[in-house]
Amino acid sequence: MQFSKSIIDIIKERTSWRTYSKGSLEDTAKDQIRQILKLKDFNSPFSERAGKCRFELISVPEFDPEEKKKIGTYGIIKGAQEFIVGATEKTNYYREDYGYLMEAIILSATDIGLATCWLGGFFNKSLFSSKIHCQTNEIVPAISPIGYQAEKRRRSEKVIRSFIKADARYSWDKLFFEVDFSNSLSQKKAGEYGIPLEMVRLGPSAGNRQPWRIVKEKDKDNIHFYVKFNKNKQDKVYNQFVRLDIGISICHFDLTAKEIGLKGRWEFEEPNIEKSDELAYVASWIS
Ligand SMILES: Cc1cc2nc3c(=O)[nH]c(=O)nc-3n(C[C@H](O)[C@H](O)[C@H](O)COP(=O)(O)O)c2cc1C
Repeated sequence: MQFSKSIIDIIKERTSWRTYSKGSLEDTAKDQIRQILKLKDFNSPFSERAGKCRFELISVPEFDPEEKKKIGTYGIIKGAQEFIVGATEKTNYYREDYGYLMEAIILSATDIGLATCWLGGFFNKSLFSSKIHCQTNEIVPAISPIGYQAEKRRRSEKVIRSFIKADARYSWDKLFFEVDFSNSLSQKKAGEYGIPLEMVRLGPSAGNRQPWRIVKEKDKDNIHFYVKFNKNKQDKVYNQFVRLDIGISICHFDLTAKEIGLKGRWEFEEPNIEKSDELAYVASWIS
């Protein structure tokens, strides 16, 4: 996947948009998006372990943009008439793979000046599944509207953002650790991995829960990614999305590490690190 500028700048620029200026995407923008969606020569670290994943640009011009009931975005999204929709085979790692690939697409869309918003819960699953001709072994884990952002966010969008504290992120000491989960890792101690980890920290997540927890080995650049599940009843609804979220975080880390020339490979062998039962191991970057 080719970006026109630094992935670090694109990650910082990306933000969810739920208010779009009316009207379809121009044909040139549609062509650009369709090229991106081919994901030519582009894989995620999970692709070999997951099944096939495909993406399409779906137009919904038959719906009045004001009338969102059938699309099922329940008034959250306004004005968008095109959506990025993916279908993936239900296999091991399908959510992590989808999270990585969809985020790479979203970053590419940001790069060409288009607005997006991950939607995991609020869309009509059967409608979008039929639009992408989902096979029986396939699923649509999430979608995103894609379009031109409105001049400003409407009031109801501002209310959503303030409710989920969309502009805030946890500090380093809550997310990143050294040796085990009892010692926090500072950005300074992370050395050249400070930048890719900071890009993980800035990533989007469902309900802005930021479920990534990461342990770096001491004096070694081996980095282990874990995901935190919610135990309390009211937050359990987010557990269906945490494996998408960790795919997003690994996308940010992987693309940034590659851009700044860090060398490593992804492995999937859980290290011997004591963890609470809210945490599940996902993958390791081995330098
Ligand atoms: C997997 C996933 C699912 C999401 N689902 C929804 C959703 O259903 N509705 C919504 O309004 N936002 C949804 N979001 C957007 C998040 O609320 C948003 O990314 C987060 O609050 C951070 O804000 P930002 O994207 O502007 O940085 C989702 C994000 C992710 C990563």
